[in-house]
Amino acid sequence: MKSSIWIVDFGSQYTQLITRKFRELGFTSEIMTVEDGVERLKTEKPKAIVLSGGPQSVFEDTTDYSPFFLDQKLPVLGICYGMQILGQFFGGRVEKGIQGEYGLAKLKTVKGFLIPGCPQETDVWMSHSDHVSVLPNNFKQIFESENGLVAGIKHELRPILGLQFHPEVHHTVHGRDILSFFLQNVAGLTSDWSSKTMMESCLEEVQKVKGSKVLCAFSGGVDSLVAATLVEKVIGKDIYCFFVNNGLLRPQDLHTIEMLKKKTTLNIEIIDATELFLEALKNDQDPEHKRKTIGKTFIEVFEAKVHEFEKNHGIKFEYLLQGTLYPDVIESISPHKKGGKSVTIKSHHNVGGLPERMKLKLLEPLRFLFKDEVRAIGLQLGLERDWVFRHPFPGPGIGVRVLGQLSRDSIRKVQESDQILFEELKQHNLYDSTWQAFTVLLPVKTVGVKGDGRAYEEVIALRMVNSQDGMTASVTELPWSFLNRVSSRICNEVKGITRVVYDITSKPPGTIEWE
Ligand code: XMP
Repeated sequence: MKSSIWIVDFGSQYTQLITRKFRELGFTSEIMTVEDGVERLKTEKPKAIVLSGGPQSVFEDTTDYSPFFLDQKLPVLGICYGMQILGQFFGGRVEKGIQGEYGLAKLKTVKGFLIPGCPQETDVWMSHSDHVSVLPNNFKQIFESENGLVAGIKHELRPILGLQFHPEVHHTVHGRDILSFFLQNVAGLTSDWSSKTMMESCLEEVQKVKGSKVLCAFSGGVDSLVAATLVEKVIGKDIYCFFVNNGLLRPQDLHTIEMLKKKTTLNIEIIDATELFLEALKNDQDPEHKRKTIGKTFIEVFEAKVHEFEKNHGIKFEYLLQGTLYPDVIESISPHKKGGKSVTIKSHHNVGGLPERMKLKLLEPLRFLFKDEVRAIGLQLGLERDWVFRHPFPGPGIGVRVLGQLSRDSIRKVQESDQILFEELKQHNLYDSTWQAFTVLLPVKTVGVKGDGRAYEEVIALRMVNSQDGMTASVTELPWSFLNRVSSRICNEVKGITRVVYDITSKPPGTIEWE
């Protein structure tokens, strides 16, 4: 990606949102660590720099940030902690806050100052305790908080702006106007990001593999489908998609794969490894262990198939195509990790373990994109809406939706109840109202009445959440009539189920999947 604006990440939980908001406004940007920013400034010149918020305090941080301010013409936006860095660097005073300002707050624009589209008084999101108490040299105040604190500053001569609140957060009602003011009025930049340029830069990335054979671990999900279609557009039949059926799929997944095989020109090879997976999982009860077994078996099956394929067809694969997205890339460069390794909540299963063993180079044409952008590219590539807007489905599939020990019968119960949920979501036109929807089999038995007899059977939990990227999630509020219908159908049609419950836990504290 030809990056133009650098977002230097001081560890704020909102940094990703700055890139997102910039893209919505039509501007390319790239997130990087402070160290990378300083290093790259020696040889490169960005169009602007954003210093993000962060958990530090200028009273403890002794880093020299002067490289960011040497070039008199370089536009700089300091957000929250970034504004405090500006304040201190340019000779103002930062004071330790006693109470701090957190959450939704009122913001007043200082008289005589106008941001196009933004009223004199508006709601913003604040999250700080230190604050700039004396204006730095050559700066004027442009915003004030409801507590009378300096909430925004602007350099009188240079293109520098400081904001104590977070314009990138959804709750800051006029955040887009304020960011647009920085980009267009302060920095004087012109838009460089559109769905057309987005597609062009992805295609450009694929050019480098022309003439090579590319392998794709294909799941039929949005990311691998868009990535494979994009690559096929450049290298034609030199891409091979291998789909592993691990026996832990829902009916809709198998149906989708068969349909993609029929309706697209992609070269898709389906590998049925159900027996191998079930055998490997036969004594596994622990969630983490199950995830590891599924991941390991996947790699074994995939690797064996690739070797067999190479042997039989004389094809040597050089690249492995992965549908990595920007949130994963950001995660891996995040300075959050500085303080130590983050705790593993779950071992996510992906094909990350493959490349080293198989000596394949990685091809990740979507690595600068967010999910909604991948969907937009999918549509531009002519893929059907239903394929592009499919809900996410995890690699370990039903393996983590049958709690505890798996069996053919427990997998069947989830497959059948999931199919009912899926049919009803479509029938009620609710599929797009939720980000993800699935059923989970609980390892408990409860008493019920079926017909005239007593039943002592298992429980299905429904899980439906809304989210942007899976990092946080809220429970989807769905009509009772819909929930009643799903519950009644599952209890009546799925053998062995007497009770249906609805999980109303957000993430955090719950995760989306139950295991
Ligand atoms: P959790 O349960 O961690 O899930 O809140 C967040 C999102 O990630 C999906 N998920 C996975 N996706 N491999 C994947 O490809 C995995 O191992 C995996 N585990 C969870 C989950 O469905 C949700 O969308």
